[in-house]
Amino acid sequence: MLFVCLGNICRSPMAEVVFRQEVRKRGLADEWKIDSAGTAGYHQGDTQDARGWAELKRHYPDLKDSDMVISRQVTKKDFEQFDWLLCMDNSNLRDLRRVAPKPCHATVQLFGDFDTKGKSIVEDPYYGGADGFTANYNQLVRCVDGFLAHVAKSKGE
Ligand code: 4NP
Repeated sequence: MLFVCLGNICRSPMAEVVFRQEVRKRGLADEWKIDSAGTAGYHQGDTQDARGWAELKRHYPDLKDSDMVISRQVTKKDFEQFDWLLCMDNSNLRDLRRVAPKPCHATVQLFGDFDTKGKSIVEDPYYGGADGFTANYNQLVRCVDGFLAHVAKSKGE
């Protein structure tokens, strides 16, 4: 599973941490290789946004600073190494589709397609306040729920 946003400092790192925590809670951690990346590389090497991290720590107090995501850019190899590249908005989706190999083994899709409340876009919180990160967190948890239900269903569970 590779989560993708623009800068890989706000939304996709939150999605990565939430997904990792939620699969662990369900005893599914061994089934998933989980990472995140940005379509742009201008935050490469930066630690994830402190506002997103603070939001995550409120929900998962056992998180350690070493669990913080370091930004990196999407590479061609990602399309071979991950089955799912799930992104946050339509601009991410266009950018990923432009660089995807053809044919492409991975499924490239909006993560919000799995939102149990049907909100398909995970809005960019970068220029807003802390409430944007809270909204992102709540939506990402719904997306994880919807996604894992989808996977379980397609396996016939
Ligand atoms: P992200 O948010 O794509 O969720 O990581 C952003 C981070 C940085 C910028 C924009 C969005 N920026 O313009 O630097």
